[in-house]
Amino acid sequence: MSLARNYDWQERSIHGTKTGAIFCRHAAVLYRGTDMIKKSKGLLITGLLILGAGASQAADVSSIVKSCNDCHGKDGVSQWTDVPTIAGVSESVHEDALYIFADEGRPCAESRFRQGDTNRPATTMCAVAADLSEEARADVATYYAKLSFVAAKQDFDPSLAAAGEAVHKKQCEQCHSDGGSNPDDEAGILAGQWKGYLKSSFAEYTSGKRDQPSKMKEKMDALSADDVKALLDYYASQQ
Ligand code: HEC
Ligand code: HEC
Repeated sequence: MSLARNYDWQERSIHGTKTGAIFCRHAAVLYRGTDMIKKSKGLLITGLLILGAGASQAADVSSIVKSCNDCHGKDGVSQWTDVPTIAGVSESVHEDALYIFADEGRPCAESRFRQGDTNRPATTMCAVAADLSEEARADVATYYAKLSFVAAKQDFDPSLAAAGEAVHKKQCEQCHSDGGSNPDDEAGILAGQWKGYLKSSFAEYTSGKRDQPSKMKEKMDALSADDVKALLDYYASQQ
């Protein structure tokens, strides 16, 4: 797996004003660059096929998301602590994640299917993402961004959650606003996400196995083990 690849975390600006949020465009822009060249060559044919393509594309997305939901839960809302809810995640964060997985640029654990045909062989997010065409990656990202995130019903310790809130406000709120619940930050959704998934994400960041924006790394590296525990309960407490 190549972790040497440096994802390019860029400062996001909306209408020319820097928002302070940072997002990763490297993988997607790189691939889309080549895609655009291919597309311009195929423009004439595409023009002729466009009517038919609309219908078949819609059918494709629904069969793809059915298999995603067999792990991520109905409408992308997970009931399993090691599987993240993907409903309501912003389009660009979702699409970037799929490019990064396809590149094996972040760890992907082997996972079994949770519903539907559970006898299918276990697979990984890296394999799932690599199997999707570029169009499909964009389409599923758009599809899930329109669905509502539903906070997980999970246990938490109220005093740890209060300690975690203080750490979050000081170190993380700047980019993960509204307690980590705002998809428009383009930084994922932390509030109400499953603790099991977030716990392994923290471990991947700490061990350097998952890339992160350098400004986030500074904050993450400064956290004690108790801070991390408290943050996990804070995110779990938002239901
Ligand atoms: C076999 C189970 C399985 C299938 C099928 C599956 N996923 Fe996943 N997905 C996971 C697990 C488990 C994780 C947590 C990360 C990891 O362990 O790889 C994950 C992580 C993700 C993430 C990262 C979320 C984040 O906030 O960074 C996205 C996005 C995602 N999946 C989208 C999809 C899409 C889209 C599909 C269908 C094309 C899909 N997944 C199919 C199990 C699955
Ligand atoms: C400078 C902005 C910035 C700061 C500060 C920051 N983050 Fe992030 N964070 C991001 C961005 C951007 C992403 C999306 C990365 C990606 O797409 O893989 C992210 C992603 C994450 C994720 C992964 C979410 C997922 O769905 O997999 C976690 C967990 C996280 N941050 C936790 C934290 C915590 C905890 C702090 C405070 C100690 C923090 N971040 C501070 C910008 C920041």
